[in-house]
Amino acid sequence: MSLDVKNLEESFELVKPKADEFATSFYETLFADNPGADKLFEKTDMAKQKKMLVASLVLVVENLRKPDALTDTLKKLGARHVNYGTLEEHYPLVGGALLKTFESYLGDKWTPEVKKAWEEAYGTIADIMLKGAAEAEGAKGS
Ligand code: HEM
Repeated sequence: MSLDVKNLEESFELVKPKADEFATSFYETLFADNPGADKLFEKTDMAKQKKMLVASLVLVVENLRKPDALTDTLKKLGARHVNYGTLEEHYPLVGGALLKTFESYLGDKWTPEVKKAWEEAYGTIADIMLKGAAEAEGAKGS
């Protein structure tokens, strides 16, 4: 995993003090841009969910320098998402909403470099989660 750790860390620091608002805004964007997506979260405690979103972003950013530890955690997270009804095609939608939320919070600090750093990071995270999901599916079938 060769991610732009500096840009990821620095931009995330700017968002951290407003983490709760950020999480609320993320889910608003996700549901506004993807009618029907709220169905997946019908039984979800959204207050808890928002905390988990922020916690998982913190976990990822804080462990960027220890990618091995992160890989195992993310694979397991991906495997659990199979049970939440998450499909492969949902990942870019969540990524799109996440990037849009970052853009609106970072304003002129949302530079092309920062954007690229988050696109790559999200893509890497999603790939690892999907790998975990596929492995869990495979294990079920055998
Ligand atoms: C980088 C991508 C993602 C991350 C880091 C992430 C993170 C999390 C975390 C930490 C939880 C808490 C439960 C657990 O730890 O197992 C969770 C639950 C959930 N996520 Fe995600 N997620 C991601 C992508 C997605 C996508 C693409 C969808 C599909 C729309 C999705 C839908 C859900 C749902 C429905 C739950 C279950 C809530 C419940 O317990 O009712 N997630 N996610």
